[in-house]
Formats: sequence, structure tokens, C-alpha cells
Amino acid sequence: MSRVALVTGGSRGIGEAISKALQAAGCTVAATYAGNDEAAAKFTEETGIKTYKWNVGDYEESKAGIAQVEADLGPIDIVVANAGITRDAPFHKMTPEQWQQVIDTNLTGVFNTVHPVWPGMRERKFGRVIVISSVNGQKGQFAQVNYAATKAGDIGIVRSLAQEGARAGITANAVCPGYIATEMVMAVPEKVRESIIAGIPAGRLGEPEEIARCVAFLASDDAGFINGSTISANGAQFFG
Ligand code: CAA
Repeated sequence: MSRVALVTGGSRGIGEAISKALQAAGCTVAATYAGNDEAAAKFTEETGIKTYKWNVGDYEESKAGIAQVEADLGPIDIVVANAGITRDAPFHKMTPEQWQQVIDTNLTGVFNTVHPVWPGMRERKFGRVIVISSVNGQKGQFAQVNYAATKAGDIGIVRSLAQEGARAGITANAVCPGYIATEMVMAVPEKVRESIIAGIPAGRLGEPEEIARCVAFLASDDAGFINGSTISANGAQFFG
């Protein structure tokens, strides 16, 4: 059956790989992005996947954007809350703005993305909610009090949604990527990145496709009894 999937932050990084994997699995995919028009246009040209621009941190924008996606493509069956940012700083230097920006995008953004699609999933008795958390939500990370708080929060969200959605045929799960070769990780100072890689038993960064394959499985009909769980894909860096 062809399902409609929404992937936030779906035109770049891990989100791009997820959008492509869901398309390859037969889904009709909509990908959101926040600002990079050029990357989104290139992505659509290459893949044929429609992109939509909105700020996931804004509830009304998310609601209107989701209504547009559903008008264009049909009811959303699969939602992947992937959009995320970092504003890293040691806690004594972290500003209230750095805290708030990360909370708005990474945590409130999950609420804003899932809440508008939830009633339709309940009515149709099918849904797949997948939230992209992080190894740093499981273990904490130097200079990421804000980010780790949101990524730990993702796990609480899916465990709660799982209990609410189970009888309605909806599953909610989190994927916790380790350090993946994306712009976000490449932005970490080289020396710091090298020391992080040295602490990964696999001895390398992960590939976006290695996360996308986890998401595609959780989104499939075959994964119907996996609910409220967390899949870690981190090269044995941490056992969460
Ligand atoms: N553990 C312990 N100490 C650390 C450290 C770490 N992981 N990282 C930095 N430090 C130390 C430094 O060695 C330095 O110590 P000294 O003062 O004794 O030299 C101190 O902490 C930091 O010094 P600064 O005050 O100069 O720090 P800064 O304000 O310039 O900030 C930083 C630097 C933002 C912390 C930078 O080091 C950094 O970006 N670190 C990486 C943080 C990180 O891993 N982020 C993950 C991004 S990827 C991601 O988030 C995706 C995902 O889900 C996995």
C-alpha cells in the first residue's frame, strides 16, 4: 500500500537519506525545510520529492503546512520528526537564547509536527511516528545541555505516545543516531571530532543511510508491534 510520509528537515543530512529511503520503500514523501531554498530545490530536482518550507518551532505554521501537504498528497500515515539544530556551548557560557532556540526547534518542534497529524491517525487506525533523538540524549554531552535535554525528551515523548496510540494502530518510536557524517557533525572543531571518533568502537562516523534504514523499518507495516522503543545506531559508542 502506498503511504504518505512527512519528514521534517527532510532535504538535507540524515533527513535527506530518510526521505529517499521512504520513497524507495514506496511511500509518497513530503520533506520540510527551514531556510535553505537552494538545497531544497536541488533535492526536489534530483528526487521528485516535494518540499515545503516552514518553521517547525511555530505551531500555526506547522499546522498550516501539514494541511497543505495533506491537500496535495493525502492523509499523512508516517511522520518523521527529524528537524534539529545545535547551539553548543559549555553550560557556564550557554545563553538563554541558545537554550530556547534548541528547545523550540528540537522539542516543541516534535509536538508541533505530531500533534496536527495525530487525530487523523487515530481516526484511520494507522500511524507511524518516528522521532530522531540522539546518542547525546541517552548519555549527555559536554557543551550540549540544551540539545541533550531535547533529545532525552524525545524518548519520553515516544514512550508516552506509544501508550496512547497502541489501541489505535499507531506506533511511536525513537531512533538514536550516534555521530553521523553530516554537516552538523562536520561543524564540530576538527580536533574535538577526531577525539570523538577515537571513542567510537567502530572507528568511524555513521552514514546517513544507516539511520534511514532504521526509520524505513520502523515505518513499515512489519514493525507494528514495536512501540515506544529506541533503536540505537552508534557504532557501539554507548548502550542506551
Ligand atoms: N569533554 C571534556 N572537556 C571538553 C570537551 C569534552 N567533550 N570538549 C571540550 N572540552 C574542554 C576543552 O578542552 C576546553 O578545556 P580547556 O579550557 O582546559 O582548554 C574547554 O572544555 C572548552 O573551552 P572553551 O571555553 O574554549 O569552549 P568554547 O566556548 O570555545 O566551546 C565547544 C567549544 C563548543 C565546546 C566545542 O569544543 C565543541 O563544539 N565541542 C563539541 C560538542 C559536541 O560534541 N557536539 C555534538 C555536535 S553533533 C550532534 O549533536 C549530533 C548528534 O546528535 C550526535
